[in-house]
Amino acid sequence: MIVNTELEQKGNLFPSKIINFSKDVDTLYFTAENDVVMQMRIVRDSVLRFRYTTTGTFEKDFSYAITKYASTGYNHLEIEEDNEKYIVTTSKLICHIAKENMKVQLYDVKDNTLINEDELGFHWEESYEFGGNIVKMSKTVNERESYFGLGDKPDHLNLKGKRFQNWVTDSYAYGKDTDPIYKAIPFYTGLHHNKAYGIFFDNTFRSYFDFAHERRNVTSFWAQGGEMNYYFIYGPQMQDVVENYTDLTGKPHQLPPLWALGYHQCKWSYYPESKVKEVTQKFRDLKIPCDAIYLDIDYMDGFRCFTWNKEHFPDPKRMVKELAADGFKTVAIIDPGIKIDKEYSVFKEALDKDYFCKRADGPYMKGKVWPGECYFPDFTRPEVRDWWSGLFKELIEDIGIKGVWNDMNEPAVMEVPNKTFPDDVRHDYDGNPCSHRKAHNVYGMQMARATYQGLKKFNYPKRPFVITRAAYSGTQRYTSTWTGDNVATWEHLWIANVQAQRMAMSGFSFAGSDIGGFAEQPQGELFTRWIQLGVFHPFCRVHSSGDHGDQEPWAFDEDVTDVVRKFVELRYQLLPYLYTAFWNLVDHGTPLLKSLVMFDQEDHQTHYRTDEFIFGDQILVCPIQEPNSKGRRMYIPRGEWYNFWTDELVEGGKEKWVDAEIDSMPIFVKAGAVIPKYPVQQYVGEKKIDEVTLDVYYTEGKERSQLFDDAHDGYDYTKGRYSLRTFKITGKPKELIIQQHKEGKYICEYEKFRLNIHGLPFKIKEIQLDNVTVPLKDVKASASGDIIVDKDFSEIHIIG
Ligand code: GLC
Repeated sequence: MIVNTELEQKGNLFPSKIINFSKDVDTLYFTAENDVVMQMRIVRDSVLRFRYTTTGTFEKDFSYAITKYASTGYNHLEIEEDNEKYIVTTSKLICHIAKENMKVQLYDVKDNTLINEDELGFHWEESYEFGGNIVKMSKTVNERESYFGLGDKPDHLNLKGKRFQNWVTDSYAYGKDTDPIYKAIPFYTGLHHNKAYGIFFDNTFRSYFDFAHERRNVTSFWAQGGEMNYYFIYGPQMQDVVENYTDLTGKPHQLPPLWALGYHQCKWSYYPESKVKEVTQKFRDLKIPCDAIYLDIDYMDGFRCFTWNKEHFPDPKRMVKELAADGFKTVAIIDPGIKIDKEYSVFKEALDKDYFCKRADGPYMKGKVWPGECYFPDFTRPEVRDWWSGLFKELIEDIGIKGVWNDMNEPAVMEVPNKTFPDDVRHDYDGNPCSHRKAHNVYGMQMARATYQGLKKFNYPKRPFVITRAAYSGTQRYTSTWTGDNVATWEHLWIANVQAQRMAMSGFSFAGSDIGGFAEQPQGELFTRWIQLGVFHPFCRVHSSGDHGDQEPWAFDEDVTDVVRKFVELRYQLLPYLYTAFWNLVDHGTPLLKSLVMFDQEDHQTHYRTDEFIFGDQILVCPIQEPNSKGRRMYIPRGEWYNFWTDELVEGGKEKWVDAEIDSMPIFVKAGAVIPKYPVQQYVGEKKIDEVTLDVYYTEGKERSQLFDDAHDGYDYTKGRYSLRTFKITGKPKELIIQQHKEGKYICEYEKFRLNIHGLPFKIKEIQLDNVTVPLKDVKASASGDIIVDKDFSEIHIIG
């Protein structure tokens, strides 16, 4: 049932006049004559939480999305009132609450710009059918307002004019504009007057967002149950909004192991063992770097989770060990459906312990998935999550599997029209018993969380690696994700690009697509262009359904293999750069990819761009998305940029044609950047890294770059054993100064930096290293002309 905010106005109920106000530390209560209460909590100066009840009492406050680590506390809080309104002021925001009708207006405290205001504001419709209310909120659209976010929507980056639904759905071969698909991330960012704010509607029921679609001047959101409960997050920078949202819903609990940032190869399915070995061997023979190999459902015995098909995999422990000796980490799939089979220990145990989900009238929730008829653990119960995490002991601790892939966890059910559980299925919801209507959107998240707990325990002291298909806000704390069953078409390459950017601006950066397309078979050219994009996605995996032909880098012609190798090698060279960006994500919630609008929101040209994005902070990428291209037009954001391939310096703020034959793609580096690079390795840890290259891009001005390093796995970095280097560049017409500031207790493996300076506008006459002049021939490596210095230098002066 789609609730139409305008046409259903007959049934809508509204708060009446406010008759009481009270305050409890950081929480304010506004009570209306008709028992509506608005609770407003000052989470931080820039983050306000709004909650409404229509009965005078609130539900028990419980959220799977909000992390206990979220920052709280404000610097300033002042509450005043006049005849018409209450006025709440923090150091960032002014909030007006109208006495007449509870409508809210939010202003920037600095310049009084109206950032966001209620149109009808909170209203609701009583639902006899569901019980409870359909809770609604409508906001006025500002002139020229743009909207971004909402997770994995395969739609234009700017959501204005569209309506969306949040209901995680198994969506095989979805297309552009299919809605909903696998994720429910009810968080968006609005942008107008160069100021960005976010709204996170923390309600797990099926919810809707309408961005000026039904009425041009109204944006609204509503849910088929639960409370109107949303967070208003002020920027004014879009990046601040996303970082604050990530602070609320959680940063990844730890860095990924570095190998997880390498290239992953997957297919449905590689079996038997000899096939797995053949594929991994071929990577090594062809010298295409690869770190992870995946086992899809066929490794199991009749698709029973936590079992092995002994005919195809007679000795998994030995196999995994041999793969590990060659640098491959094995990742195995685990689905939620447990086969109904009295001889199967996982089934028996869950049945004995009463861990499976039940229908309202008592029977177990029975549904068909790969193994046939299954029951499904209720992952919203803490004991069930504990039990599930314990099941990983053998797989992880004994056999040595390094990562787990959670799939079909929407939960997907085959051969039924709604593709999932019926609404009446019961869930514990961590002690808040409810129906599937409320638990559906978090089911996959709680499964991934339980899996994460298992990996964390049994892989200790190494870090866990999990990947999930379904997700609700906050899932990014536990796992990485991919965008599900896409298709090998050029349109899907466009979708993959938008989805990865959108996931990053929705607080879930560690995401990627099935490179090359899951369904159908790509031509070599499409595969090549997709690899070029995929190596710039935080999660980089080739996957395909297998029944459409092969999709390994050598499955096309030799030219394709060569270009794939070149780009995968580039990813491996950029690992220290990407790892540093991950550190910023884990530490500050900084998104790994930045759409141009997030990079430069003041430049209105960026508000409708979709193709170009910033990888990390300083590398601009634009995929080629059409066949037979020799290049493309793209928008270069403001500032100065170096063409990565030619070192040509271009001035941004305009569109430009960029050459990109099939072995190239448009990549630019921000002037002033210091880009750290490793030598190419076939897998992470293959070589001892003696030297890190620093590609220094000259700028006349200043720029700051960072390099993070640690043991690449384990938790020592959380105890200070990391190394964070900050490079400050100051460029003058005849001088370049590179200063280094060091932090942390980790002793890096490498001893030297190799400085490769791009775009230096003068001939080097003198080099001073920590104030001592060094003979040019001593610092310059003979062949390349690069400058080699000790890693712990403080300052380098290059003088012309
Ligand atoms: C689902 C997944 C896909 C997987 C397949 C078999 O379609 O999305 O990635 O290969 O199931 O497990």
